[in-house]
Amino acid sequence: MQIIPASDHFLEEANRLADRFEFSCLSQKTGTPRQDFWLSLDTEGLALQQPDGSKLIIDFSDKQLQYRRLHGGGLNQSLAKAIGIRSSDKPNILDTTAGFGKDSFILASLGCKVTLIERSSVIFALLDDAFTRASANPEFEPIISRMTLVHADSTDYLPTLLEAHNCPDVVYIDPMFPDTKKSALVNKDMQYLKHFLGADQAIQSLIQSGRSIAKKRVVIKRPKKAPLAIDEKPNFQLYGKTTRFDIYLPYS
Ligand SMILES: C[S@@+](CC[C@H](N)C(=O)[O-])C[C@H]1O[C@@H](n2cnc3c(N)ncnc32)[C@H](O)[C@@H]1O
Repeated sequence: MQIIPASDHFLEEANRLADRFEFSCLSQKTGTPRQDFWLSLDTEGLALQQPDGSKLIIDFSDKQLQYRRLHGGGLNQSLAKAIGIRSSDKPNILDTTAGFGKDSFILASLGCKVTLIERSSVIFALLDDAFTRASANPEFEPIISRMTLVHADSTDYLPTLLEAHNCPDVVYIDPMFPDTKKSALVNKDMQYLKHFLGADQAIQSLIQSGRSIAKKRVVIKRPKKAPLAIDEKPNFQLYGKTTRFDIYLPYS
């Protein structure tokens, strides 16, 4: 991945990111991106430049996410019910597929501690940048303080939690599945993410590892009418407007 700082002012930070994530840093003066996707760094933050010229920046203050936080139904929304959050019970959550961190942000805003795992260096770098910006905002800092970001592949990371006797209450999985026409219209950034990262594999082993370590449940988010992610019926299901949550109980 190439990263191009907007000016020399951002060069040191761009070089630091390039070293950390094995990106290549091009100077604004000489650099011309040679790929469909590339990273830019300017006053707004780190952004993924997309093939249509738009840019993807993770911003926890964005209007849609704030609407969801403030008017999304609180503990009555299907995500909260699927996770099993109650006013008297705020489970510890392991989000094994962090992505843009939106679901985790909502869960943390409802009072849960959430560990977010993201394996893509590019998405992790964008998330890390969003965390830094949100932490500086007094309105979001208490929410961000409940969120911990880990750069790892969950398939490798989950067994380490079992060894360390540090198991979460809930394992949450929101993998990327092939598109429906409707979802393609609804969320362009997610379409680019799919194009950029490809569909997620090894979901079955993630669900199995999740069921070995979760103390309370494993929750898989799916499009409402999609087939099951694995060849095994969930213990129960919850439906949202466009999504469905398949819930599996731990093995023991
Ligand atoms: C559909 S997105 C998740 C969206 C997220 N729930 C949100 O609210 O923004 C899926 C993300 O999971 C990541 N992912 C998929 N498999 C993973 C794994 N085994 N370990 C860590 N991250 C994974 C992908 O790189 C992608 O960023």
